Amino acid sequence: MKKRILIIGACGQIGTELTLYLREKFGKHKVIASDIREGDKPLMKSGPFEILDATNYDEVEEVVIRHEITDVYLMAAMLSATAEKFPMKGWNLNMDSLFNVLKLAKEKKIEKLFWPSSIAVFGPTTPKNDTPQRTVMEPSTVYGISKQTGERWCEYYFNRYGVDVRSIRYPGLISYKTLPGGGTTDYAVDIYHKALKHKKYICFLNSETTLPMMFMDDAIRATVSIMEADREDIKVRSSYNLSGMSFDPEEITASIKKHIPKFEISYEPDFRQPIADSWPQSIDDSEARKDWGWESKISLDEMTEIMLTNLKDKYQ
Ligand SMILES: NC(=O)c1ccc[n+]([C@@H]2O[C@H](COP(=O)([O-])OP(=O)(O)OC[C@H]3O[C@@H](n4cnc5c(N)ncnc54)[C@H](O)[C@@H]3O)[C@@H](O)[C@H]2O)c1
Repeated sequence: MKKRILIIGACGQIGTELTLYLREKFGKHKVIASDIREGDKPLMKSGPFEILDATNYDEVEEVVIRHEITDVYLMAAMLSATAEKFPMKGWNLNMDSLFNVLKLAKEKKIEKLFWPSSIAVFGPTTPKNDTPQRTVMEPSTVYGISKQTGERWCEYYFNRYGVDVRSIRYPGLISYKTLPGGGTTDYAVDIYHKALKHKKYICFLNSETTLPMMFMDDAIRATVSIMEADREDIKVRSSYNLSGMSFDPEEITASIKKHIPKFEISYEPDFRQPIADSWPQSIDDSEARKDWGWESKISLDEMTEIMLTNLKDKYQ
């Protein structure tokens, strides 16, 4: 089968690792990275790259046709905290980029599409624990509204036009290769950097803010396995719940202290606190497990060990 992949928004937190993973798996010339800006060296050196504006249909179509793309992963978006500062910009980027790739799939210019949703589709009226796949969804952020709307459109394009779109509601993602891009769960990456650098961290969420999180390796594995699953196994065409771990700032601190006993945390909650308060604390992902065999592998303590080991060199 002639598979050729385009990643849009490849220079971001997820796109960078996804690109490297897919190049390793399918060969570097089969995976075209693209973004509105250049990325870091390991990404730029690892294979073909195109500067591309996801909101410009003609540009996206030209790259898709020139590279004979079959699969698109759309990673360009404005994340939750940044979108609260620029609501209309966030809405336009998140929706226009999605409509562009849905249109390409509807016109059969690509075969398969991955589009990420988020736990931000849920809101203050959603049950907070073991949040089910189907439940009350009244998101209170512009980012959450864009993701919920995106889910509805994905399902509509599947039902109406047979578009093979696949999606996951990512929890907060934690990684060491690339910094996060303006989300409400960014503290859980920053805390590792500050623990190594200053042995101190001022957290922008309060000590009891439990949120669903996941280590990047698990998220990449989930992303590629839903895309590689048989078409008929994908029963949910809006977006699948996905769960890794849940913790609050105090619990991640305790995990870091096992390696850096002098590490201290203090709290100065800001505008991101109400966003975090509107989201679930834990997620029921039984449908993803049942339909395409999802299973998370990495626990909080395992993640802490991987993060500190890999970031250590940077700060020594
Ligand atoms: N990181 C998380 O914790 C998380 C959690 C839930 C969902 N998500 C979703 O996953 C996707 C990727 O997230 P991320 O964390 O990698 O985001 P990020 O902000 O790190 O990366 C987004 C990338 O998109 C690029 N971009 C912005 N505007 C563009 C445009 N017009 N054209 C082309 N590229 C453009 C940016 O330059 C950036 O490299 C997003 O849809 C996000 O909503 C992420």
